[in-house]
Amino acid sequence: MKKHLLTLALCCVTSLSFANEEVKLEKIQVDTSNPAVKRGVEAFMDSCHSCHTLKYIKYQDLVGLGFDKAKVKEWQGDWTLDAPVMGMMPDDGAMAAFGKLPPELSLMARARDGGNNYLYSYLMAYYTGADGVTGNHVFPASKMPDPLGISSATEPAQRAEIAAKAKDIVSFLNWAADPHELERYKLGTYILGYLFVLTSLLFVMKKRIWARLN
Ligand code: HEC
Repeated sequence: MKKHLLTLALCCVTSLSFANEEVKLEKIQVDTSNPAVKRGVEAFMDSCHSCHTLKYIKYQDLVGLGFDKAKVKEWQGDWTLDAPVMGMMPDDGAMAAFGKLPPELSLMARARDGGNNYLYSYLMAYYTGADGVTGNHVFPASKMPDPLGISSATEPAQRAEIAAKAKDIVSFLNWAADPHELERYKLGTYILGYLFVLTSLLFVMKKRIWARLN
């Protein structure tokens, strides 16, 4: 019993200390437009694809976004268009380098508290400490090396460029977590239009019928 109480007390203490360390996430406005999502695909392929897989996104989906097949072929390598976007690092290589596997990212924009704000803040939170060691304010224990190079960027223009890239990547990962969102909006508009036409027709019919009855 005592042991259980001790464990419980320990849990409380550790969760409290986590709460204290909680960092404020930067809030961003996610650009969901097709050009932003496409820029995000390019940035993802340059900076993230070497390690991360997108389990629920196929190369074909990138064609659907408007990339031509020749461009997609550069990312696709020997995989078919039907294959999911596969990270390029083999599992044993990743285990040797990081001691864990890079997680698949297609649902990551919904998987973490803070969603898109978390993704952006995490990518931007790398810094170089006084001792020259790279750290991350948002996820201090992160085994991921700074992928966009923000920890060594000192010039404001360079930092702004990296911030824009991080935002584009979030636009893409936000799309990846729900690729049919835009289609649903479009469908919704059609359905509203249909209901409007139907209501108008019924209204005209009702008027005619009542005109005859009067
Ligand atoms: C050199 C390999 C490598 C590259 C490149 C890389 N990552 Fe990672 N990433 C990792 C590893 C390893 C982890 C696991 C980190 C951990 O849990 O300590 C990870 C974890 C993550 C996580 C999950 C963090 C969490 O809360 O668990 C996100 C999100 C992420 N990466 C996004 C990205 C994005 C976006 C890019 C491109 C800008 C990228 N990564 C590039 C190796 C990489």
